[in-house]
This record gives sequence, C-alpha cells and structure tokens, in this order.
Amino acid sequence: MDTKRISATLEEALSTQMNVELFQSHTYLSYGIWATDKGYDGIGNFLMRHSLEERNHAIKFMQYVLNRGGKPTVSALKGAEGDPQNLTDCFNRVFKHEVENTEKIYNLVNMAFEEKDWATWNFLQWFVKEQIEEETLAMDLIDKLKIAGGDRATDESLFNLDKDLGKAEDDAELARNANSENP
Ligand code: FEO
Repeated sequence: MDTKRISATLEEALSTQMNVELFQSHTYLSYGIWATDKGYDGIGNFLMRHSLEERNHAIKFMQYVLNRGGKPTVSALKGAEGDPQNLTDCFNRVFKHEVENTEKIYNLVNMAFEEKDWATWNFLQWFVKEQIEEETLAMDLIDKLKIAGGDRATDESLFNLDKDLGKAEDDAELARNANSENP
C-alpha cells in the first residue's frame, strides 16, 4: 500500500527548500568566519550561531518530508559567495538573503494552498512566522550598526557593538511575543 501523503511536486519543492536552508547555513558560516577574521569575534559568534539555526531549519524540512512518507535529497551546495566588503555590506546581505528566503517560503505556501495540502500548509506557517523574526533580526543588525556610526563608526562604538552581538539572543524580540510582563 502506498503510504505517501505528499505529492511528488511538494516533496521535491520541500526538498529543494531543505537545500536552500543548508545554503543559508553555509552563507552565515562564511560571514561568521569573515567577521571573526576581521577581529569582530562577537559578531562572528552571532553569525555562526545563526548558521546553526539555519541548519535546524533544513532539518525541519527534512523531517517533515520523511514524516509524510517522502524522501528528501541532499544536493551539492555551491560555495558561499565572496566576503563582504565591510560590516554594512555584511548586514545588508544578511537582510537580502532573508527577504529572498521569505519569498521562497511564500511560494511553497502558495503551492500547498493550490494543492489543498493543508498539512503542508500548516507546517509552513511555522516558517512564515519564523521569517518575520529573521527579517526583524536582520533589520536590527542594520539599525544597530547605523547607530554605532555605520562605516564611519569609531573603534570604541564597534567594540561595543561587537560585544553586544556576542551576547545577543538568537531570536528577535517581536510584538507577538509581548505581554503585560514583557511589554
Ligand atoms: Fe531559514 Fe534565515 O531563514
């Protein structure tokens, strides 16, 4: 008896997204290495922790496809793009990657909707919320650097930014998480 509960189209699309998330992990790792090499150990640590988070996203896609009776395929990953020119470029690229990833998630949501595959549609809602968090996190990085003075930031303000990001939470603070005790 065929126990597969996902279409071949969605199986392939979710498998592709698993590889996209692995590439995101690759990208954050390369930025983390770049930042650490430049002496921004805190920022490097932050980006490397995020690389692990992206790998966890890939695992979520992998597990879901397996749970629905499908089999995801790990494809060859291309190398990460070249090093950022500076911190502004690095954080702008992080934001761009996240926006592009959000578009890919939305596309999957549309596919699930069109197939009336509500299990997959429901699974993807976690990623819809997660991408709000990811974009907010990237916007926060850009804002923090701007406040520190952007490309003209002093060594002292970059030192403080680096220290802050080394200790920063992995997730962004979102309005949806707010409550009376944590406004
Ligand atoms: Fe898995 Fe940053 O998106």
